[in-house]
Amino acid sequence: MNWFRKVFFRQSSVPEVHFEAPPVLQALPAYTPLPAPQPPELRKVTSSSALPSFQTPGSELGLSFHTVEGENTRNKVRDAFSPSLPITNPRLLAGRTEALKTLIRAVEDLKLHIVIYGERGMGKTSLLQILKQLAESAKYQVVYHSCGEDAHFPDMFRAIAAEIPLLYYEGFDVASADRRHTGSLASLLPTGDFNVSQLSDTFAKLSNTRVLIMLDEFDRSPTGLFRRNIAQLVKNLSDRSVKVQLVIAGVAGNLSDLVEHIPSIRRNILGFRIPELKPTEVQQMVSIGEEISGLIFDPEASAQVIAMANGSPYLAALLSQYASFGALDRGASIVAPVDVVNAVAQVADELRARLSDASGEAVDRALVDGWGATLHTFANHSMHDMGCLDADTVQGVLADRRFLDVAEQLRETYGLLITAFDEKPERYRFREEGLGSYIWLRLAENGVNAGRQPAEQA
Ligand SMILES: Nc1ncnc2c1ncn2[C@@H]1O[C@H](COP(=O)(O)OP(=O)(O)OP(=O)(O)O)[C@@H](O)[C@H]1O
Ligand SMILES: [Mg+2]
Repeated sequence: MNWFRKVFFRQSSVPEVHFEAPPVLQALPAYTPLPAPQPPELRKVTSSSALPSFQTPGSELGLSFHTVEGENTRNKVRDAFSPSLPITNPRLLAGRTEALKTLIRAVEDLKLHIVIYGERGMGKTSLLQILKQLAESAKYQVVYHSCGEDAHFPDMFRAIAAEIPLLYYEGFDVASADRRHTGSLASLLPTGDFNVSQLSDTFAKLSNTRVLIMLDEFDRSPTGLFRRNIAQLVKNLSDRSVKVQLVIAGVAGNLSDLVEHIPSIRRNILGFRIPELKPTEVQQMVSIGEEISGLIFDPEASAQVIAMANGSPYLAALLSQYASFGALDRGASIVAPVDVVNAVAQVADELRARLSDASGEAVDRALVDGWGATLHTFANHSMHDMGCLDADTVQGVLADRRFLDVAEQLRETYGLLITAFDEKPERYRFREEGLGSYIWLRLAENGVNAGRQPAEQA
């Protein structure tokens, strides 16, 4: 019998060897294979359990033979629209050409440090990720670091320096077998804590490369000493023409909210407010999604996504993903307006679930009292103006009511708006992040439209 050879030498060029089965095996009953294990039932809910199930296997091992109808397309939809993950694949990036040109010019020609700021979900991390890839393909050393509340200047920069090979240290001697040179720039830093000038001295020793250090989620980093150190580092690196540039990104309404001591470094940085996605760019996001998922958006459905996203890439991705799933659930390959309408309701629910009870209930009360159209107008404005509500921008659409009276009423009676002592006088914001988008979608869902005249109490 030749089973051994068949199993183990199928692909080999080993000369054929004939093995006779040992007598003990011949005496055994014929081998009956065990039934192959069934793949897990992925989407079926049995009558004994009403619990929902995961719809996609967490591991692909052993499941290559298993296909769930439509699951492939669902996965493609997830790839195409990924609202919870930043874009890292340039093919998925919609628009942003002008933004990237501006940033590249600032890095390359102007040798500036960059501070990207803007509202949550506007695509800052996605922009950083693509800029990183573009810079790497131009042979920059790029280190991406996400800041946390416990960011500690020396620890953070030691970790960053650990990603920069000593190959770029000016004293590096390729021919030398000096073991110091086989590691990273971190080995040149003083042990224990170090200050900004010691770090700048180390960075100044870099040659033959330019380095970009990306500090994302900078809004989470501690205010005070940490941010002052960063400003000082920008100043030192610029003054000494060190080939290291910082690209900082974070949620903020303006530059000085993010980085301290801006006046001292204003000439050394490009403050870049990330623009909202233009309608053509949201359309591009939908088209890219169509290409990847194989689904088609009815033109009216994509127009609805564009309108409802209101410039937010996050909302555009979320709505497109839910609408695509809606179409698949109907067994359709065309995403119809009804799918977007359902998606708006789902996203509104999702945003509501993330708000505090107090905010959600305040909206409910205000709507019962007839504030719908005003809230819709305020939500719309805040989404286009970094969350700000100012008399000069909102007054024009309030007909004969005074902005300040209306805003005060929404603040005092419902607690929906706040003012902050360090803001421009008479500037209001919604009391909680995400409240503006929630109101916007919830009222879209209720059929309130932006052009409707407010009919509430003055
Ligand atoms: N240019 C783009 N093209 C396609 N999708 C985008 C683009 N920009 C952002 N997105 C989508 O929007 C979502 C939010 O983007 P991203 O995480 O980059 O925003 P962010 O500004 O870094 O958010 P946060 O303030 O929460 O850190 C991403 O998950 C992605 O799906
Ligand atoms: Mg981000």
